[in-house]
Amino acid sequence: MTYRASACGKSILLGEHAVVYGFPAVAIPVVGLRATAELAPGDTPFLLNAPAIGLTSPLKDLPADHPLAFCVRRAFEFLGTEIPTATLTVTSDIPVASGLGSGAAVSTAIVRVLTASAGRSLTPGEISRIVFDVERIYHGTPSGVDNTVIAYECPVYFQRDREPVLLPIQSELLFLLADSGVRSETRAAVGGVRQRWQANPARYEDLFRRIGALADTGRGHLENGRAQPLGITMNQCHELLRTIGVSSPALDRLVEAARHAGALGAKLTGAGMGGNVVALINPQDFDFVESALRGAGASAVYRTTLEPG
Ligand code: MEV
Repeated sequence: MTYRASACGKSILLGEHAVVYGFPAVAIPVVGLRATAELAPGDTPFLLNAPAIGLTSPLKDLPADHPLAFCVRRAFEFLGTEIPTATLTVTSDIPVASGLGSGAAVSTAIVRVLTASAGRSLTPGEISRIVFDVERIYHGTPSGVDNTVIAYECPVYFQRDREPVLLPIQSELLFLLADSGVRSETRAAVGGVRQRWQANPARYEDLFRRIGALADTGRGHLENGRAQPLGITMNQCHELLRTIGVSSPALDRLVEAARHAGALGAKLTGAGMGGNVVALINPQDFDFVESALRGAGASAVYRTTLEPG
């Protein structure tokens, strides 16, 4: 029997970077983009396959800090189970280093499939904790927002070291994600902000506080389905993210194009410096905003919907 599990991507609507410093953020799942892990029991010592990165290796030959190997070992340690003879294959349609949580999604899919194959079940909170340990290898100082929204696969209001608040949605909301085509490592973007914060703590703490306040405001708009003010809050967040130095001309171009084409709000999403922007749109504006984003240089455009419930 082969076991299969998947995990979604994510988009941060409000609060990225400030969330690393203890301020709140709001994030949503991107359910149509997924990482998948497949476990085929067999006779060979545990083998890890990740075709997209050209990896085929026995687990025992991979170093302790290899993120995929670390994830597998950490999951078995958490489960208290021996590592079996099997082949684990990981695939993903979430673009890497693009602000959509590809690393956390791959880890979540792996933890889910190993849990299922061991005949066990873990809560989203337990899965999130394991993936957080892996995120530290990818990113150094993650806030925990990515592993949380992906493990729960629902909109969350997140603040470090607190229980996440799962957000109910009153009415359907439609978002477009547009990829700048520029890959950007979270670790580098977060490191750059850290250096600027260290050089000017008072100014940056004020900016982080303002970004966090927008997450608080936007949370209410999201929960109550108030699309227009939510869009305005997203626009304001983008301006603050530009001020802390994590936007780029390509991201600003996409944001401007989406707004001119009628998006209710648009901003970079995730660590920035590259990666994706997220735009909140009215369904009737879909074609117009999509073609404006492509015209402004988007290498890919994805749509994602939040359903009431
Ligand atoms: C990355 O998706 C979001 C950041 O806020 C980093 C983090 O929260 O760990 C930039």
